[in-house]
Amino acid sequence: MDISKRMKKLPISSIRKLIPLSDKAKSRGIKIYHLNMGQPDVKTPDVMIESLKHWTQNPISYAPSGGTPEYLQALETYYHDLGFLFVNTKNTIGTIAGSEAINMALFAVCDPGDELLVFEPFYSSYQTSAQLWNIKLTPVETSLQDGFHLPPGAIIESAITEKTKAILYSNPGNPTGTVYTKEEILMLVDIVKKHNLFLLSDEVYREYTFVDRPHVSLLKFMQEIPEQAILIDSLSKRYNLCGARLGNLISLNEQVLSGSLKFAMSRLSGGIIDQYIGSKLVDVPAEYTKSMQAEYQNRRDVMFEGLQSIDGISVTKPEGAFYIMAELPVEDAEIFSIWLLESFHDKNETVMLAPGYGFYSDPKKGKKQVRIAYVLEESQLRRSIEILDTALHEYKKIQ
Ligand SMILES: Cc1ncc(COP(=O)(O)O)c(C=O)c1O
Repeated sequence: MDISKRMKKLPISSIRKLIPLSDKAKSRGIKIYHLNMGQPDVKTPDVMIESLKHWTQNPISYAPSGGTPEYLQALETYYHDLGFLFVNTKNTIGTIAGSEAINMALFAVCDPGDELLVFEPFYSSYQTSAQLWNIKLTPVETSLQDGFHLPPGAIIESAITEKTKAILYSNPGNPTGTVYTKEEILMLVDIVKKHNLFLLSDEVYREYTFVDRPHVSLLKFMQEIPEQAILIDSLSKRYNLCGARLGNLISLNEQVLSGSLKFAMSRLSGGIIDQYIGSKLVDVPAEYTKSMQAEYQNRRDVMFEGLQSIDGISVTKPEGAFYIMAELPVEDAEIFSIWLLESFHDKNETVMLAPGYGFYSDPKKGKKQVRIAYVLEESQLRRSIEILDTALHEYKKIQ
């Protein structure tokens, strides 16, 4: 039996592609420092873990398709605390994490063949989601030298065609760690107004910014462009809840909301236990988020300074999230990443990196780059940097 052509064409994430090699290295007794995935090692808030012990509902039923009232109410409280008082349980749809919110939003705004403008390098799932829905990605390049900030509006506008339906961006950015300024967000708002496009903001790292200016959410401008703005959000990173699969979409566009609800109905329900845990977000002490911010800022500093100290590596200081794109002194960062897993170890230890090409539409573009997720605690990050330095020296000898 032959499976569909479109399924065959679906890209494998460059982040997950090397997992079989890391499994093999582990079976040879090699310890691997995982810098390849955005899965933090920090603890989920106690109140959320505790709540699991108090689950009583039997049988475990479906949840309402758009989210349980408790989960939606908790989200409303969260956005009100941020100052966005117009957000409520009616304009928010509970999703199976940010990943589903992305798929839902793209399904809501694009037809097959439509174009979606993204800033490159971009979160690799944007490419997969676009391909799922038969949407063409139009990448607008940003560069390491400019800290991956947006190019002038005229360059962005020159990528817009009559088929362009939406602009999608992540802020803070994965894989870049860039936090857009208010001027950059305003520029995008002006562009979508002028060209009548949807504007989709993926803010799953909202809490993690290390710059002395506030994070500027699209929510700030949502009432100005109520038909066009869509927010994509997730609890995965904010509460270190990656496995609970909790997210949401916010829109003031009635058609987007009712369409998204139909999408949600097609999969019946999100996880009711997950949403029960998520509804406890209102009891998470503010201290939790503050300590997370401080922790990631310290890790950012350790990783940035460590990478800077290695000969031949180019980096720009990330302003948020927990990723850094690094240009390595190698011809092909994927071959190097494979070599790290298959042929190298330092005292039985090695590091796993995410090859940069997976964050570009044209694999040649990110060829020398890797994305490093600084999701491990400080001592492990320091050891990872040491291993990377040794590995690059060794690699140079055999090149
Ligand atoms: C920018 C961005 N958006 C969305 C997601 C989706 O995460 P989740 O599905 O766990 O919410 C991720 C995950 O790494 C991400 O980096």
